[in-house]
Amino acid sequence: MQHQKVLVLDFGGQYNQLIARRVRDMNVYCDLKPCEMTVGEIKKYDPIGIIFTGGPNSVYEKNAPHIDKTVLSLGIPVLGICYGCQLIAQTLGGSVGHAAASEYGKKELFLVGDSPLFEGVEKRSVCWMSHTDRVEALPEGFSTLASTETCENAVYGNAEKKIYGVQFHPEVVHSVYGNTILRNFLYNVCGAKGDWTMKNFVGESIARLRERIGDRKVLCAMSGGVDSAVAATLVYKAVGKQLTCVFVDHGLHRKDEPEEVMRVFRDGLGMNLIKADAGELFLEALRGVTDPEQKRKIIGKLFIDVFEKEAKKIGAVDFLVQGTIYPDVIESGKGKSAVIKSHHNVGGLPDVVDFKEIVEPLRDLFKDEVRRVGTELGLSDGIVWRQPCPGPALAIRIMGEVTAEKLATLRDTDAIFREEIARAGLEKEIWQYFAVITDSKTVGVQGDFRTYENVIALRAVTSVDAMTADWARIPYDVLERVSNRITGEVKHANRVVYDITSKPPATIEWE
Ligand code: XMP
Repeated sequence: MQHQKVLVLDFGGQYNQLIARRVRDMNVYCDLKPCEMTVGEIKKYDPIGIIFTGGPNSVYEKNAPHIDKTVLSLGIPVLGICYGCQLIAQTLGGSVGHAAASEYGKKELFLVGDSPLFEGVEKRSVCWMSHTDRVEALPEGFSTLASTETCENAVYGNAEKKIYGVQFHPEVVHSVYGNTILRNFLYNVCGAKGDWTMKNFVGESIARLRERIGDRKVLCAMSGGVDSAVAATLVYKAVGKQLTCVFVDHGLHRKDEPEEVMRVFRDGLGMNLIKADAGELFLEALRGVTDPEQKRKIIGKLFIDVFEKEAKKIGAVDFLVQGTIYPDVIESGKGKSAVIKSHHNVGGLPDVVDFKEIVEPLRDLFKDEVRRVGTELGLSDGIVWRQPCPGPALAIRIMGEVTAEKLATLRDTDAIFREEIARAGLEKEIWQYFAVITDSKTVGVQGDFRTYENVIALRAVTSVDAMTADWARIPYDVLERVSNRITGEVKHANRVVYDITSKPPATIEWE
């Protein structure tokens, strides 16, 4: 692609993806790459600037990651953040030491020098610190640009070399001028033009897809989720009816979802979209099954079987579309973590489809960028801001056996919760919100009658990447309305509870 690129070298800090997302938000493309990248690889990548991220190590530890000094003499602007800031100082002959006390949290930052980094930054402001080591002596030619009470070299740099270090975390919202400083680095120091926009991305992607696919055939599994919807729409805009999409209706979707998918993509956009009706098959396979892992396995396998059957009808294709996004690509580079839940995605499909190549049009995008591309492509907020929904969908939100009756109760309950969240304008603030049917029944009184019905749990979390999450502080009056409506409008529900557990220790889903 023809846009400028910034390289974010990953030294293992917890905010690293956030740095990359902030840079992209400023309309500058960047990639997060392992810090082991060689000078040759960096030159080949040809970035307009490099950012060294934070990391958990001390630069003077034996096995701490380092960089080749040459990287700092390529003439490419560099910004080091936290560990990256200390690394620059150490590499160029300054010194890093252990501070008497760690600095953690909000600190007052005061500017002591002029710098292109500080355009629009107040002399005194709040920044977010999280460090124990600090830069004690600067390398020759560098000067202190800003300090905090306990950290003299909170920002330092050399304007001629275009190399800067910031001890605090500009990417974190608590650093009031963090975004301004990052933007200034990109635009004032690296000469960014701001050529990474979703409009450009859409135009370039469609052109590239058209060129790559030519007049050949493409197949895509639509799940109804944002990623596959946007991926399919991009490919559809590029090659139209050469694309066939298959939507497996496993009968476990949320209320009206299958109808909406068909209405928007087949009837509205005119896509070649096939719906495989397999609701009965899935219910049958899940009969009597109560173990969450077993449910997931059964659904995952059956999904692939149903898809395979449809794919066989279509015959050989040249390409299979996958909705892989950038965080999947970054994470796959790291060591394997323990399997907490066997996630069922479309990962198993390549084995059952007769195809030659995989197309991943969203491989370079973060989730928020995927959403913006969706909007750019004309998809409605309803599709673009759709909740992440697990592959096994409502089956893992019904504790115990999945039955048609419980599915109906959950669909109605979940729809009310979603409606009320939307009405309160909280849709974009809350990462994910849904209802669960617990396997407890309790006594209630509805009208003049004693009831013995299901306990419904509401789950709503805020999160950045679903790896960790906090329970959402939904206003009481919204919760009250949801509860009243559920117990008043839905059959077989007489009690509503709200889940106030973060992740960890709980997971987002209940199974
Ligand atoms: P947990 O429950 O593990 O979920 O905290 C983290 C995120 O992943 C979603 N999730 C799934 N997504 N297939 C998926 O594609 C699955 O089997 C699956 N299980 C959980 C969950 O909704 C949350 O967003």
